[in-house]
Amino acid sequence: MNTNSLVSISDITKEEMLDLLERASYFEAHPNSKLLDGRVAATLFFEPSTRTRLSFETAVNRLGGRVIGFSDASTSSTSKGETLKDTIKMVSNYADIIIMRHFLEGAARYATEVTDVPVVNAGDGANQHPSQTMLDLYSILKTQGKLEGLNIAMVGDLKYGRTVHSLLMAMRYFNPVFHFVSSPQLRMPQEYIDVCRREGIAYTEHTEFSPEVINSADILYMTRVQRERFSDAMEYEKVKNLYTLRNAMLADSKPNLRVLHPLPRVNEIDRDVDDNPKAYYFEQARNGVYARQAIITRALGIQIPPK
Ligand code: CP
Repeated sequence: MNTNSLVSISDITKEEMLDLLERASYFEAHPNSKLLDGRVAATLFFEPSTRTRLSFETAVNRLGGRVIGFSDASTSSTSKGETLKDTIKMVSNYADIIIMRHFLEGAARYATEVTDVPVVNAGDGANQHPSQTMLDLYSILKTQGKLEGLNIAMVGDLKYGRTVHSLLMAMRYFNPVFHFVSSPQLRMPQEYIDVCRREGIAYTEHTEFSPEVINSADILYMTRVQRERFSDAMEYEKVKNLYTLRNAMLADSKPNLRVLHPLPRVNEIDRDVDDNPKAYYFEQARNGVYARQAIITRALGIQIPPK
């Protein structure tokens, strides 16, 4: 096992998170370098992705490294029955770092147990998405000028949305006030509610996406209902259209409010929000390159700023 792996945001301390944010800021100012000259990154995506895979690959390319991997596991020997263990052991022969998305919760943790190469979890089922959290934190810091004491509304699929789980675990260090807006079927899992209770974090659960929630928020974190996690299509049909943010709903929001979304979106943010200066989701995705450059260099033990 490599201790520089990043499987869950809970694996790193507040200080390590702040170090990653400083690194991200460095890479925003210095996006291109040869820090990974001669190194190879493997991107193994057992689930679809646009932003995560392409921003990780952009990060490696901008750092002067090379990328191998697959974006569709059906083109790999997984389709012939090769196990995840054997796949990871093989790729460890070729790459200096493994960046992996998998549909099974715990798959990235398992990968760390069968290799000495650092593993970065690019999303495991409905569990965690720590690199998304680092770009979310970076986006929050850039737009709010601080992480402390913010009012954060999380809206939509709080059950299956791995990004909100990771974000909650990261923000718990920064004295937040949370508003969780979801249908009863998709409420924040009890284990995360328990974290809030145990750590004295203020939170309120809502089923209504009310003006009070919107107008008190510093960050409105919208999420997609994760159709691919439902075993019953009818259950998805019941909840898929419950919450849609429209531009008019932002009329009385705070001046510093920013709307975030890990993307992709379906219908939870109307297109008429896109031109509102408070819409930040496209810039948020761009921040993913800097945050992932930070994660990769940390995982490989590269000092930033370089000597
Ligand atoms: N935010 C996110 O994980 O997007 P992708 O699924 O496109 O990687």
